[in-house]
Amino acid sequence: MSDFEGLRALVTGGASGIGRATADLLAARGARVAVLDRDTTGVDRPLIAHRADVTDDASVRAAVERAAEDLGGLDVLVNNAGIGAQGTVEDNDDTEWQRVFDVNVLGMVRTTRAALPHLRRSDRAAIVNTCSIAATAGLPRRALYSATKGAVYSLTLAMAADHVREGIRVNCVNPGTADTPWIGRLLDAAPDPAAERAALQARQPTGRLVTAAEVAGAIAYLASPLSGATTGTALAVDGGMQGLRLRPVGQ
Ligand SMILES: NC(=O)c1ccc[n+]([C@@H]2O[C@H](COP(=O)([O-])OP(=O)(O)OC[C@H]3O[C@@H](n4cnc5c(N)ncnc54)[C@H](O)[C@@H]3O)[C@@H](O)[C@H]2O)c1
Repeated sequence: MSDFEGLRALVTGGASGIGRATADLLAARGARVAVLDRDTTGVDRPLIAHRADVTDDASVRAAVERAAEDLGGLDVLVNNAGIGAQGTVEDNDDTEWQRVFDVNVLGMVRTTRAALPHLRRSDRAAIVNTCSIAATAGLPRRALYSATKGAVYSLTLAMAADHVREGIRVNCVNPGTADTPWIGRLLDAAPDPAAERAALQARQPTGRLVTAAEVAGAIAYLASPLSGATTGTALAVDGGMQGLRLRPVGQ
């Protein structure tokens, strides 16, 4: 029997990239899975689609309630919906700072608030947040995005402390640059997409981008009841980018 057999999972941002790979993997491993996304185009059975914007508390609450009703409860919440931002601390105005924090940080707060009453009724409850290497390494021209992911990292630890005695585990994954539609859009917008891709690949000791499936595998590991002793951790899925210091090739 698979570790996710009989479990009920909700994945935000589950229509694309890392979220979609996670929803598909959890379903393949036996979970019943609902996806919450602002655009659910292309999400089909066995996944259940619920359209909601994580910046809208009422729409989040309604979607989480409907998902819990469809699935018969909730055991796993994957807080994954997020957006990017580029530039130094000077490059974005207050409105943009508030917009990106609203999605990347408050989005997780809203879905978690709505899901907690259901998770408390589970005996194998887990929350996994999609954080980023941007939370733990200083990346150029990512001031706003990094600040949101730093907040996600701290929020993960605080939530893990608050809910451990309720039997709810909370962890996060820290992907490096992952080959998703998001990065595709970023490359398309670069003056020289091939050179930009090569630079991103070279930044990772493995010499290649992370795959969405690899991040999904790490999220499933943290969400699984087999990881019942793991809470308050950040799991790097970054091709060694955070932890390794290689010498230049040939030295
Ligand atoms: N791709 C990377 O290199 C990378 C690296 C580190 C962390 N991450 C994180 O992984 C997560 C997923 O990124 P991805 O690369 O799969 O991107 P993606 O753009 O392929 O998918 C993001 C999904 O989130 C949804 N979404 C965005 N804003 C939303 C909102 N307000 N309400 C509801 N849904 C919303 C989108 O519709 C989309 O389906 C994000 O949190 C991102 O910060 C990505």
